Amino acid sequence: MASEHIRITVFDTTLRDGEQSPGCSMNREEKLRLAHQLDRLGADVIEAGFPIASDGDFESVKAIAAGLRRPIIAALARACKPDIERAWEALKGAAHPRIHVFLATSDIHLQYKLRITREECVAQAREAVAFAKSFCADVEFSPEDATRSDPEFLCQMLEAVIEAGATTLNIPDTVGYTVPAEFGELIATIRRRTKGIEKVTISAHCHNDLGMAVANTMAAISAGARQVECTINGIGERAGNASLEEIVMATRVRKDRYPYTTGIVSNQLFPASQLLSEITGVPVQPNKAIIGRNAFAHEAGIHQDGVLKNPLTYEIMTPQSVGVPDSKLVLGKHSGRHALAIRCEQLGYQFDRRALDDIYRRFVRLADKIKRVEDHHLLELIRETHKPAASATPLFEPLPTAYAAAASAVAAPAAAPPEPHRPFPMAQQPNAFGLPFPVDHHDQEDYLWGV
Ligand code: KIV
Ligand code: ZN
Repeated sequence: MASEHIRITVFDTTLRDGEQSPGCSMNREEKLRLAHQLDRLGADVIEAGFPIASDGDFESVKAIAAGLRRPIIAALARACKPDIERAWEALKGAAHPRIHVFLATSDIHLQYKLRITREECVAQAREAVAFAKSFCADVEFSPEDATRSDPEFLCQMLEAVIEAGATTLNIPDTVGYTVPAEFGELIATIRRRTKGIEKVTISAHCHNDLGMAVANTMAAISAGARQVECTINGIGERAGNASLEEIVMATRVRKDRYPYTTGIVSNQLFPASQLLSEITGVPVQPNKAIIGRNAFAHEAGIHQDGVLKNPLTYEIMTPQSVGVPDSKLVLGKHSGRHALAIRCEQLGYQFDRRALDDIYRRFVRLADKIKRVEDHHLLELIRETHKPAASATPLFEPLPTAYAAAASAVAAPAAAPPEPHRPFPMAQQPNAFGLPFPVDHHDQEDYLWGV
């Protein structure tokens, strides 16, 4: 039951961490456009930028803070006064502002980057959070490189910032180093050992350097994190951040394992992904889960045959549920006759078995050469195959002609009705794609035909 499911806060950082990916920087208008789509998507928190980084980012955060009234608008700041003041200046027009302060806690960062001691680090974080709190009730703190920090010291730091007024504690796997079981244990340790932890929200922020950002995020949720930080298309520093669409759909499709809900309107996922690609000019990898061009495309004959009979055979969610207009049957050398026949029918041609075999043989040879057979290739192939003058019985008939023949048979009752072609497959009732189920449900696709 939905009411038993725990609500997870979705913190979208496409406009901040995502924008830090090479080639993904956005100007104010572009950020604002994407922010409106993130609002339609139902993101709870939108991290709009890092105001101290540039005047452009400052203006972007300000415009988003002024323009979007529903979500929380967050802005990033290092643990120092000028950053926090600049963040607040950009955020103060927001209906729901949040200042996000970060300071590294790993010894590697303390020693080589910040050149401060652990004691100095705790003091700086405490002071920074208290300063942010003087402007804004909603303050998030991130101990950067948390997963490579000494857990004992990490908990000490978290206790200090809770005392200083932090309301969300975000645990970043800054360098994408952790693995799911370990990250889950870290969240559990933090919950066990940090005084005052029950008063705040624990958040997970995972990078994808080992390809485990989403798995790590899911492990964090299972261990008690209640906010996830993620980006559209998984963009972000280096290998990217945890992908928002993957986290959300994992909770939808595998409710049995992840009994959590989010406020995400899932059919806005694909539009958000497309808009981001359009704005940045960075394409989505074709096999990207959920929103990639191939995520609902089927080329293998067995798969096409199964999906045409019932999409559940090879699809665990509907394309429509994530805003993808429809599944795609890609015609290539792995395709079978079932998919070929369906595409031909969609193009207006219906074949008997013998004609289809002939077309299919030529189609496989062509697909071997050109990899992907588009509609115009198929139409050309049909035209080449059709040799009415040399054949007493045409190998195929364009559907309009067949309809015309049937109509004239009705108009002339004296003439014997023409023997109908046995189309393959025979059109009867539509499946979930609006495409016909074959009459013979036991008719298995012999996709290796001709090999
Ligand atoms: O990856 C990281 O550590 C960050 C912090 C600023 C939260 O992006
Ligand atoms: Zn990050």
